[in-house]
Amino acid sequence: MAVQISPSILSADFARLADEAAAVSNADWLHVDVMDNHFVPNLTIGLPVVEALRKAADTPLDCHLMIEDPDRWAPAYAEAGAGSVTVHVEAAKAPVRTLRQIRSAGARAGLALNPATAVESYADLLGEVDMLLLMTVEPGFGGQRFLDVVLPKVRRTRELITAHGGQVWLQVDGGVSAETIERCAEAGADVFVAGSAVYGADDPARAVDALRALAEG
Ligand code: DX5
Ligand code: ZN
Repeated sequence: MAVQISPSILSADFARLADEAAAVSNADWLHVDVMDNHFVPNLTIGLPVVEALRKAADTPLDCHLMIEDPDRWAPAYAEAGAGSVTVHVEAAKAPVRTLRQIRSAGARAGLALNPATAVESYADLLGEVDMLLLMTVEPGFGGQRFLDVVLPKVRRTRELITAHGGQVWLQVDGGVSAETIERCAEAGADVFVAGSAVYGADDPARAVDALRALAEG
């Protein structure tokens, strides 16, 4: 699988989202962090902004739902035109049904795991997902320090995916930067979310290229 970079607009200027999306037109995805102040202690954006961004941006949207009731909301994000919709295992009450609904609505289905959540419990769901997202910080905020403690799980997840046929993408999210991306790639990640490392840079597009080059090794 080729390396993919998904800049997180959480670190962008929310008043200029269309411009901020265009600034990273060399990225594969735009990562959209949806937070509800219940599943995580922060409140960001929701469906209306995703609908607007979908019309304003050429890059496909990679929606990461950090919300308490993803079963209720995830299909609507897929119907709104998101290219990928990811729900947390800690929040979904009916993950298989929800993942199937995301796919039926035409999006890629993702399943996210917090740092302390074991991946082995979800190995049987690999056929239901297009991507596994491993959080490399506790979800809720951009700009946090990368948690090295998750790297063995990245490695084990890559092994599970390989044993399953290798089709599922493996995304890492949180603290991914020029300092940490090579360790993630070496452990087996192939889709990299980066917020502050991209939008905190003077030239976000160059930061995307630099991260991609480091991940490709
Ligand atoms: C955190 C979000 C991340 C965040 C990453 O809960 O899921 O996508 O934007 O930001 P950085 O790259 O700055 O850690
Ligand atoms: Zn995210």
